[in-house]
Amino acid sequence: MAVTAAVDGDRLWRSLMEMSRIGATPGGGVGRLALTDLDKAGRDLFVDWCKEAGLAVRVDRMGNIIGRRAGTDDTAPPVVTGSHLDSQPLGGKFDGAYGVLAGLEVVRALNEAGLTTRAPLEIINWTDEEGVRFTAGVVASGVYAGQFDLDFGRNLPDREGTTTLGRELARIGYDGDAPCGGYPISAFFEAHIEQGPILEREGAVIGAVLGAQGRRCYTVTVTGEEGHAGTLPMPLRRDALVGAARMIDGLNRLAFEFDPLPVITTGYLQVRPNSRNTVPGRVTFSVDIRHPDNALLADICARAEALCRTVAGETGLEVEVAEMFGRDSIRFDPDCVEAVRAAAKRLGLACRDIHSGAGHDACNLAQAAPTGMIFVPCKDGISHNEREYAAPEDLAAGCQVLLEAMVARAGVA
Ligand code: GLV
Ligand code: MN
Ligand code: MN
Repeated sequence: MAVTAAVDGDRLWRSLMEMSRIGATPGGGVGRLALTDLDKAGRDLFVDWCKEAGLAVRVDRMGNIIGRRAGTDDTAPPVVTGSHLDSQPLGGKFDGAYGVLAGLEVVRALNEAGLTTRAPLEIINWTDEEGVRFTAGVVASGVYAGQFDLDFGRNLPDREGTTTLGRELARIGYDGDAPCGGYPISAFFEAHIEQGPILEREGAVIGAVLGAQGRRCYTVTVTGEEGHAGTLPMPLRRDALVGAARMIDGLNRLAFEFDPLPVITTGYLQVRPNSRNTVPGRVTFSVDIRHPDNALLADICARAEALCRTVAGETGLEVEVAEMFGRDSIRFDPDCVEAVRAAAKRLGLACRDIHSGAGHDACNLAQAAPTGMIFVPCKDGISHNEREYAAPEDLAAGCQVLLEAMVARAGVA
């Protein structure tokens, strides 16, 4: 089939590579944590590109950047796309940036084709998808979709407890005054690399994403008492790190007691006072638990919490388990999923249905509007890793599917 307007895969690739220079890591990846000076630089570049493409740019109260392309019926609810420019500390070039710049490429291609849609189009860079600095992640899209209060989002503390998300927005000049969400949207589509091995293994170029697994995130604080490493006899110690280590090992083993297997991860750990010759008095660590079955997920989480309390009791420590974020598994809108499948079919691209293991801003949007996602393969399924890679032709194919799905939804005048 002839494309509606051809995306330029080289231009998309060049934009991705230019964006990836901001926060480039020695290992070939990207470290562009939300609301840092590097994130500001990435945002500034995106805003420049939006303006060059003729988009009207606004920034909302959560710092989400929205580039809007007018429709011939500009009062119609917009068709929206987007993802995130923030990354993991040792992240890749594509997780997030692809979905933002694919949206921009859709606009550039429509501009070149001289094609205006009936409904307006909006391209969004969501603030702090990754949740590295401000503990929760996907909060700005959650506020937009009406799941979290604006005050909750803006007052989120950073993990050192020295600043808040709202203050950091102001510091980098992205404390916008546009309302965060609160208007009807026709549909939301997010393009993203799969971050897993299925599409590549099965020779599919497009994944029509059916939904995403449930997720609960906790901060566990283990408290013992500091002491001298040379003088405090072993039987008298209340070593918080030893307790935390037992808990983390126990949580890893717990995962294997369930079928199908959940994923349980501790990726963040803070030791106080973090000194070679002091017995650690307090340890804080993260626990991220995910499973597609909500009832099983609740059971795993209850077992995980009980395990931490049992270990604390056995080791003479205190433990506090705080839930930071939780969402049940979600299903995307059948019409949006079908729009992705149909576009892939028309373009002659091998497509398969797929479930997302990762969380995405689209999971929040799904609570408020018809939502779908487009996955493209990434090499060896590797992500949250500097080695993350996706082939330019696959990225272009996903972008073309995004264009077709958005235009089909928005209509052509
Ligand atoms: C997002 O990066 C997630 O952790 O799923
Ligand atoms: Mn992502
Ligand atoms: Mn990510």
